[in-house]
Amino acid sequence: MQPDDIAAIFDQQAAGYDRQAQRREPIENALRFLLEAVFAGLPSNAHVLCVGSGTGSEAIALAQRFPHWRFTLVEPSAGMVEVCRQKLIDAGLVERCHVQLGYLESLSPAQQFDGATCFLVSQFITDRLARQKFFRQIAQRLKPSGILASSDLVFDTGALGYDASLALWHRITTQTEPTPEHLDRLKKTYATDVAVMSMVELAQIVQAGGFDEPLPFFQAGLVQAWCATKAR
Ligand SMILES: C[S@@+](CC[C@H](N)C(=O)[O-])C[C@H]1O[C@@H](n2cnc3c(N)ncnc32)[C@H](O)[C@@H]1O
Repeated sequence: MQPDDIAAIFDQQAAGYDRQAQRREPIENALRFLLEAVFAGLPSNAHVLCVGSGTGSEAIALAQRFPHWRFTLVEPSAGMVEVCRQKLIDAGLVERCHVQLGYLESLSPAQQFDGATCFLVSQFITDRLARQKFFRQIAQRLKPSGILASSDLVFDTGALGYDASLALWHRITTQTEPTPEHLDRLKKTYATDVAVMSMVELAQIVQAGGFDEPLPFFQAGLVQAWCATKAR
């Protein structure tokens, strides 16, 4: 899928995205709890880049926790941006958050950030070189020793446990028992439209994109979160 096709899918999902994501809220909460420790070394006036910021949930959680931080959110789906802007207004956070409609290219590399988040985004870039370039674009916008915290659907799809993990993931995300057809469809989607791969493979892409070896800090179902420091 081309990047604009992905943005168009999220345009359609924007209005109902947060309602749907409610099922994953315990996972997101745990991830955000750990994220505080990952970002503990950032300065008290940090400027954080949120890539694929969606409806703004991670930026809002961080902005509420760290009242002196500023945020730049970059998101290619106009529908997601619209929902995000309204949430930032409702939460009284507009002053500290700049929302940019577009891709990373639309942000000058001259603008340098202390840290970046990229939750459930890079998995949609199915071409390995394009995914590597995506991480490089993030690295280029980080200060020396800047930290990226990211999450993706991660699993070794060749491993024996993949089918059982898919079934578990289906139960977690839908609260229903998967049929063999459900699992077949999920497997096909994760093989074509979502680049599910092992952490070992993903780490190679991240490192080739300009980061030190990523450190996994959270796993729940198929969601794996990891952090990485910009390579010297
Ligand atoms: C699954 S949502 C995650 C949103 C948010 N980070 C969260 O965790 O709730 C993925 C988001 O990434 C955006 N996206 C997809 N491809 C992107 C790209 N190449 N660069 C930046 N954002 C992208 C989508 O438009 C969508 O809003």
